Amino acid sequence: MDQPRKLHIKSFGCQMNVYDAQRMVDALAPQGFVETANADDADLVILNTCHIREKAAEKVYSELGKLKLLKQDAAQQGRRFEIAVAGCVAQAEGEEIIRRQPAVDVVVGPQSYHHLPELLAQARREGRALETEFPVEDKFGLLPPPQPEAIRARGVSAFVTVQEGCDKFCSFCVVPYTRGAEMSRPVAQIIADTERLAAHGVREVTLIGQNVNGYHGEGPDGRPWSLGRLLHRLAEIPGIVRLRYSTSHPLDVDDELIAAHRELAALMPFVHLPVQSGSDTILAAMNRRHTADDYRRLIDRFRAASPTIAFSSDFIVGFPGESERDFAATLALVEQIGYAGAYSFKYSPRPGTPAAEMQEMVAPAVMDERLEQLQSLIDSQQAAFNAAAIGTTVDVLFERAARHPGQLVGRTAYLQPAHVMASDDIIGQVLPVTIHSLERYSLIGELASHAAAPKPVTIGA
Ligand code: 5AD
Ligand code: SF4
Repeated sequence: MDQPRKLHIKSFGCQMNVYDAQRMVDALAPQGFVETANADDADLVILNTCHIREKAAEKVYSELGKLKLLKQDAAQQGRRFEIAVAGCVAQAEGEEIIRRQPAVDVVVGPQSYHHLPELLAQARREGRALETEFPVEDKFGLLPPPQPEAIRARGVSAFVTVQEGCDKFCSFCVVPYTRGAEMSRPVAQIIADTERLAAHGVREVTLIGQNVNGYHGEGPDGRPWSLGRLLHRLAEIPGIVRLRYSTSHPLDVDDELIAAHRELAALMPFVHLPVQSGSDTILAAMNRRHTADDYRRLIDRFRAASPTIAFSSDFIVGFPGESERDFAATLALVEQIGYAGAYSFKYSPRPGTPAAEMQEMVAPAVMDERLEQLQSLIDSQQAAFNAAAIGTTVDVLFERAARHPGQLVGRTAYLQPAHVMASDDIIGQVLPVTIHSLERYSLIGELASHAAAPKPVTIGA
């Protein structure tokens, strides 16, 4: 039998790249590839890239420089070492990647991962292979499902892509160009994937999509189903105890989704709802198509449906034309909403997007200053949110052994890591934990059953 070939995938960027990396491993498993944690001893390295900001995109070339050296070493030892570039930089830059780094064997866009085996074969025959089309066939239907051992090895929490691409065209964003037009997977496929995951130990599923709440996949009744309806159906799958979804656009939140937060115990009360800015002028320039007040009202509707709900968000500082007043409006919105956490980024002009043509660039020093101010406000909100857990008892889904011997780590409903001393047979269970302290972003506690248990009584002599 042939030796297994070793595959190393390095992913950058969003959750969908994490999911896609797993699907690429699954696609190459039937070819005899097994995953390795090191690039050095791999036969094939895939860089799964991100194009969202310039820094992320440029990182690819420094990584490729290092891989080229590994390829040269391998060649000296008479060993074949292949390099593939996948993800959004592959989609956006295509042939340019091979021009800048000729050591690359394969360039493959996110819509063509099911063609990876053929592309590798083509590269061996012809020296290189490139595919960045948006093929008409259904990639998801053609990608092999993960093997039971792979599902178990990946743990109790899994991603499932339900929707891909985006039609929102926010003026700063490359996603509509790199991931293409919105498409939703049919409900039956998502149920089948989730059932398979649940059968092999997955307890929590996060439905992912660039605009996940724009989901409108075909239901078994032949009609489009909303995300809220899909969540109801998935909550019925035995073994699935937690559901999440990410990332949402405020404009596509509907009553069914909000109601799902009231009706479904499995739907976690933690919603990532990016707003990007608190200024109506900037929101309009960003083509977000809602105002800051629309967003505030939306948050109120979620809170009315589920009083324990918490939010996270994304923000961009220094969008072209952002004045001090605009930025103050962002700070005011953050103060008012009160986030459990949020990501904030300096605006980065992306080639081909409308915002990249805008003139009034904010000075880099001003951007730095605004980013720092916003991040420190968000950090203080996050710290307060975490501190509020001290002294309470919260449900934790246990995921794996932690760094310290005998310690396990799991996550609360709000994705806070929680550490307890316990034996690892509780991995995969949701158990109440009494939190007694905080260590940076982690909650430290003990199983509530232990905390509440009466002192052991000695019977007899
Ligand atoms: N510059 C800075 N941040 C950006 N994002 C998207 N495009 C850009 C850009 N050009 C941020 C947005 C988005 C998150 C995933 O990345 O906040 O929600
Ligand atoms: Fe990009 Fe999100 Fe806007 Fe779509 S909704 S264009 S993915 S920022």
